[in-house]
Amino acid sequence: MGHAQLPVVPSGLGATMRPDRWWVQPAIVFLLLSTFIVYATWAAFQGEHYTHGPYLSPFYAPELFGASSHAWFGPRPAWWPAWLVFSPALLILPFPGIFRVTCYYYRGAYYKAFWADPPACAVGEPRKRYRGEAAFPLILQNVHRYFLYVALGFLFLLATDVYKAMWFTDPVTGPTSFGIGVGTLVLLANVTLLGGYTLGCHSLRHIVGGYLDQLSRFPARKRLYDCSSCLNRAHMRWAWTSLFSVAFADLYVRLCSMGVWSDWRIV
Ligand code: FES
Repeated sequence: MGHAQLPVVPSGLGATMRPDRWWVQPAIVFLLLSTFIVYATWAAFQGEHYTHGPYLSPFYAPELFGASSHAWFGPRPAWWPAWLVFSPALLILPFPGIFRVTCYYYRGAYYKAFWADPPACAVGEPRKRYRGEAAFPLILQNVHRYFLYVALGFLFLLATDVYKAMWFTDPVTGPTSFGIGVGTLVLLANVTLLGGYTLGCHSLRHIVGGYLDQLSRFPARKRLYDCSSCLNRAHMRWAWTSLFSVAFADLYVRLCSMGVWSDWRIV
């Protein structure tokens, strides 16, 4: 078999023979993920303006304890330490957060963008030894498949929130009636994009597709595998669009609640 003579690639951080602007993509990823992290952290600690009428911000869903009518178990629990800031989002956000942080796509993206390991393909990295994800702490990334089950539960709950966002209570006369507002569509778009992201998860393909190293013989499982694989082909796109949509849905509910934006009723 013939083989090409390859030149020796220079080593050291950032050293490369690539003539293109390889740093653009990691720089954009760094900027976008940093912006999201800052906004999500700020929004999670606010503890207010996360509902508007039947709408509940996805950062606060499900609201286990809280002051709004969406809360499952009533107001802030007595056992919550007085010295600790209370926000309903802090009780639930770590779960979808860990699911995203351990996602195979995001791992590849933030390893490059945040700690340059490597900064891009065929570009020199800061360390000489490669340990991959086989040792602590990165071996913990393997919890992804377990957090997938949690994420599926969240997806179901967010879908029920879209249904609840179709029932408006008249603030003066009291009765509840069916309706669709712009906020309903914002929450619907968000759960659709989150669905595309979660249902195309690599781990889900393995779970529905079969066993250790073979596809299932059951046609229904093969179909599920095909559906999940189809979504998975655009996993990066679902990852980004759902990240934007979840932040925008929170922003929409927040600004409506603060009176900055008005929610238009379509139906
Ligand atoms: Fe991205 Fe599972 S691999 S969500």
